[in-house]
Amino acid sequence: MTTYPIAVIGGDGTGPEVAAEGVKVMDALADRFDLKFDWHHYDLGGERYLKTGEILPESVFEELKQFRAIFLGAIGHPEVKPGILEKGLLLELRFRMEQYINLRPVKLYPGVETPLKDKGPEDIDFVVVRENNEGLYLGAGGFFKKGTRQEVAVQESINTRFGVERCLRYAFDLTRKRDRKKMLTLCGKTNVLTYAFDLWELAFHEIGAEDYPEIERDYAHVDATCMWMVKNPEYFDVIVTDNMFGDIITDLGAMIQGGMGIAAGGNINPEGTSMFEPIGGSAPKYTGLKKINPMAAIAAGQMMVKFLGEERAAAEMEAAIVKACGKLKSLSAGRMGYNTEEVGDLVAGFIRD
Ligand code: IPM
Ligand code: MN
Repeated sequence: MTTYPIAVIGGDGTGPEVAAEGVKVMDALADRFDLKFDWHHYDLGGERYLKTGEILPESVFEELKQFRAIFLGAIGHPEVKPGILEKGLLLELRFRMEQYINLRPVKLYPGVETPLKDKGPEDIDFVVVRENNEGLYLGAGGFFKKGTRQEVAVQESINTRFGVERCLRYAFDLTRKRDRKKMLTLCGKTNVLTYAFDLWELAFHEIGAEDYPEIERDYAHVDATCMWMVKNPEYFDVIVTDNMFGDIITDLGAMIQGGMGIAAGGNINPEGTSMFEPIGGSAPKYTGLKKINPMAAIAAGQMMVKFLGEERAAAEMEAAIVKACGKLKSLSAGRMGYNTEEVGDLVAGFIRD
């Protein structure tokens, strides 16, 4: 039997509720495949911050670093000023653990409704590889002469050859592994952001030509990417982009795959500690009401199982998710026809059958 020690951060709002359902489903999966997930729960997030002033104590960070994977519910508390927990916890973990890839599949499961007219599961199946450690998110810049009439804010996008290259390589490798068009689209803004995306483009073509000649290299501006995602999502196989654009286009991606109720992502450090999360946030108004859909957290768990190398178990888990999605009336909170726990039970049930 293989044992996987996993850190669980339920976090804020509905985070703990959805994470619990992910854990439940993965425990059912473990029984079936003779695995064990050894869950270690960490109390981090807005409540702890408000009580103690602590966001991510160094000792906790050191412990978390020992795991191959972290399973995260959600970060974001209505009583904490925006930016504090996001930067102090979520981005801190992404950066300090060098989770340089944010992997966000956009896959429409059968039976799930998409707002795109005349598009089905065969049309919506691509992956966004979002650079996760640099760009505008690094926080370079400053606010000068604040409070005066000459106040000026500068927010710079940092793009290093090293950071861009490792992200591109990951995206090329993924494109090679996927059984689709073998096309990698660089999403940028080369017509305006001529420094940042010059670097991306240079590296993209250099690496592509040298090491991935069989992969088709494609380019789209970020605005056009949004247009194509709605008009012709079947065009895409893998999209690689910077941190900010990746953040934006994956919310659009989440909507076309059925909404925040299903969208999951992985913050990947292939050699270190990776972190898997539903991408929807903490939805504080639903806290404790058992109305939130845990499917995105379960899907994040599925990505984690695959990442750990348990391919067969991950495929089984995905099949169970698909079956369960087919049973839900809607993927939106409060309209599923099931409560949060029942959705977890449903998926777990399909795994046991
Ligand atoms: C996401 C979120 C985060 C981001 C926020 C909460 C900092 O929107 O994971 O997409 O911008 O990356
Ligand atoms: Mn986002």
